[in-house]
Amino acid sequence: MSALPSLSLARRVSVVTGAARGIGFACATALAAAGSDVAICDLDEATAAASAAKLSAEYGVRGRGYAINVTKPDDVRAGIARIAADLGAIDHVVNNAGVQYVAPIAEFGDADWERVRSVDLDSVFHLTKAAWPHLVACGHGRVVNIASVHGLIASPFKSAYIASKHGVVGFTKATALEGAEAGITANAICPGAVYTDLIAGQAKDLATSYGGGISEEEALKRAFLSKMPTGKFIDPLEVGALCAYLCSDAARSITGTAIPIDGGWSAE
Ligand SMILES: NC(=O)c1ccc[n+]([C@@H]2O[C@H](COP(=O)([O-])OP(=O)(O)OC[C@H]3O[C@@H](n4cnc5c(N)ncnc54)[C@H](O)[C@@H]3O)[C@@H](O)[C@H]2O)c1
Repeated sequence: MSALPSLSLARRVSVVTGAARGIGFACATALAAAGSDVAICDLDEATAAASAAKLSAEYGVRGRGYAINVTKPDDVRAGIARIAADLGAIDHVVNNAGVQYVAPIAEFGDADWERVRSVDLDSVFHLTKAAWPHLVACGHGRVVNIASVHGLIASPFKSAYIASKHGVVGFTKATALEGAEAGITANAICPGAVYTDLIAGQAKDLATSYGGGISEEEALKRAFLSKMPTGKFIDPLEVGALCAYLCSDAARSITGTAIPIDGGWSAE
């Protein structure tokens, strides 16, 4: 029998977008815990650097913070060049930055549609493209896209997010096909409801979109908890652990997938 494939990410460099907090920080934490150096990218460099410093202190890896607005292709290209120069390589990219906007289609603002699509979908293309030569060069590149259960199924009032996340799942498949010969894998993680600022921030608009007359707590229950047979919010580190696994050698034959981690939401 051959040797058990390694789960270690020692001597690897991971780039995670939107990683100062929430699911992105949880992915960076799990990657660092497995030994990877981490580039924490977010809108604000000081906040990103503070999150990176926590991981350096806890896991002894090189953690660096970078200001990269993922909606700006020039920022993305410059940021990727800086990370490669600072850390010497890029082995993994985790496209995590994302935003939500909740409104019925008839009232959905054009600018809101553009903003959600730009952060949630277009950025995945721009960052993957910018990092591509580095992923090819290392021989074991990994692309992990944080899509959503809404990349697989729909709910009302989130049309831009749902269209974008379905797009991310499609782009992931295309990336997997184009990367296979170079040893690059690409997978989408499709979380159900993970309690972060992104969820908390929707409570008021959801209550309004449901016609008012229900509390924000009731709106969150109707929109999220009632959809998951497990009835519980998912811990961000559960998503992080899956991300780290997908980056490992043990997952080298997993590619082109969209993996739900959704308490059974998409099973119905
Ligand atoms: N929370 C959930 O239940 C859930 C479920 C499924 C999928 N997701 C996805 O997981 C990802 C992370 O979500 P979260 O819940 O941690 O959200 P969050 O709001 O807690 O964190 C998002 C992070 O992205 C950053 N960000 C936003 N716009 C950016 C931009 N233009 N450039 C760079 N960084 C930017 C924010 O500053 C923040 O640090 C998103 O793609 C989201 O769609 C979340």
